[in-house]
Amino acid sequence: MQILRCPHSFIQLLLISALVIGFEGAGSVPVPDSNCYALDNSSRLVDFMISLTWVDQSSWIGHPFEYDGKEFDLVVRFCKDVETRGQAGYVDFGRFDPLSYFVSSSEKFDFVQGFYHGDLSNCEQSYDKLGRTAQVNIICGNCVDGRCKGGLGCICSVTQDSTCRVTVELAIPCEKPGPRVFKGFTVGLHPRSWELIYNGMTQFGFDKPRREFSFKTEQTHLTLYMTAIASLSTLVGKPIVKVSPENGLAVKISGSSLTGNHPTTLSPSTLVLDWNCEKSRKTPYEVNVTIPVDGYDPVQFFLTKLCEYNQGAEGGSAKGWAIFGVFSCVSLVAFTLFCCGGFVYKTRVERVRGIDALPGMSLLSGLLETASGGGQSYSRTEEINNAFANEVSWDRSSTSSTQAPTQRPSERTYGAI
Ligand SMILES: *[C@@H]1O[C@H](CO)[C@@H](O)[C@H](O)[C@H]1NC(C)=O
Ligand SMILES: *[C@@H]1O[C@H](CO)[C@@H](O)[C@H](O)[C@H]1NC(C)=O
Repeated sequence: MQILRCPHSFIQLLLISALVIGFEGAGSVPVPDSNCYALDNSSRLVDFMISLTWVDQSSWIGHPFEYDGKEFDLVVRFCKDVETRGQAGYVDFGRFDPLSYFVSSSEKFDFVQGFYHGDLSNCEQSYDKLGRTAQVNIICGNCVDGRCKGGLGCICSVTQDSTCRVTVELAIPCEKPGPRVFKGFTVGLHPRSWELIYNGMTQFGFDKPRREFSFKTEQTHLTLYMTAIASLSTLVGKPIVKVSPENGLAVKISGSSLTGNHPTTLSPSTLVLDWNCEKSRKTPYEVNVTIPVDGYDPVQFFLTKLCEYNQGAEGGSAKGWAIFGVFSCVSLVAFTLFCCGGFVYKTRVERVRGIDALPGMSLLSGLLETASGGGQSYSRTEEINNAFANEVSWDRSSTSSTQAPTQRPSERTYGAI
């Protein structure tokens, strides 16, 4: 075991500050852009940012804290890696896991960062092939002996536990932590997924209304699944849904989360949204879902819903089928009448033979083709639409077909009835 000492000259060029992220009070807790963040011992989010005194450095991740030792110098590149620099060259003591953030500590430190998968040579047997590893214990403020001066951070001490592992004590100024994150909470589109919320934080795409993440007009039903750590599940309140603008998108909510069922990891609770476009709109509707959590900042996310055409008050498809039913009935009666009439006609007009002799046969076959969705009727409808494209308003043309025209008239698709 060896304790090394530290100069301050280089380190004084750095200014580290912890940025409080999230919006004050109510608001979502968006997942930070990088994994260089931590949840403190009361589950508050602390995101680390660096602002440098020189301009040409734009990225703050990887900025070095150096420590001059007797046998080797040690460098912690913040949220990146730990390495020693000596006569034998650089030796990698592990990299910061890109898939995980760092954790709060129950000991005298505020946060602990683990660095794994460093140089493997002579450390093949240690730590399950993780190679050289390092642990960086972060103190918010100053070292115990007060060696960091002013608002700057520094390495307080380096302890070499073995050839293959070092422990570093790093002091940096940490500012007031941000929102209180409801750890372990997930919201997903499937019972075992977390596209919207992971570990209490809103994922990219749902942190604010985003058109590229819109739900389509045709999708009138959405089920969301929520899970929470069982011991904390009673803290979860009932979701509150707000639509903006208020009129035009009818949203009915249901599901077990509204009937007081508490979500656990084994039995997710559901939030079902039945949404129906009553008024088409160029910009999507924004649905603000807030889930209050007792003692924590609320979980919040945004769903974006496209309404390219009206679906009517009762749902476009139901209406479409009703129209189809009436149409079929009328067709059947008309067909019967034509048949009888035709039969009578045929017995009188002997010189015309075959089914073509029936009066109104061409009209009837046209009708049948339309009803059966034959290819010919598509092009015919298309021609009509093109001809009247300037007169037929979008809304009217869309209510008359069961599926939406989404593009210019020439590109429209029509659903077979
Ligand atoms: C959390 O850590 C701070 C020091 O950073 C300490 O003052 C506080 O008592 C700790 N809280 C809990 C609940 O451990
Ligand atoms: C979303 O709704 C919550 C409460 O339901 C409200 O506090 C918050 O301000 C809303 N956010 C936006 C951006 O409308």
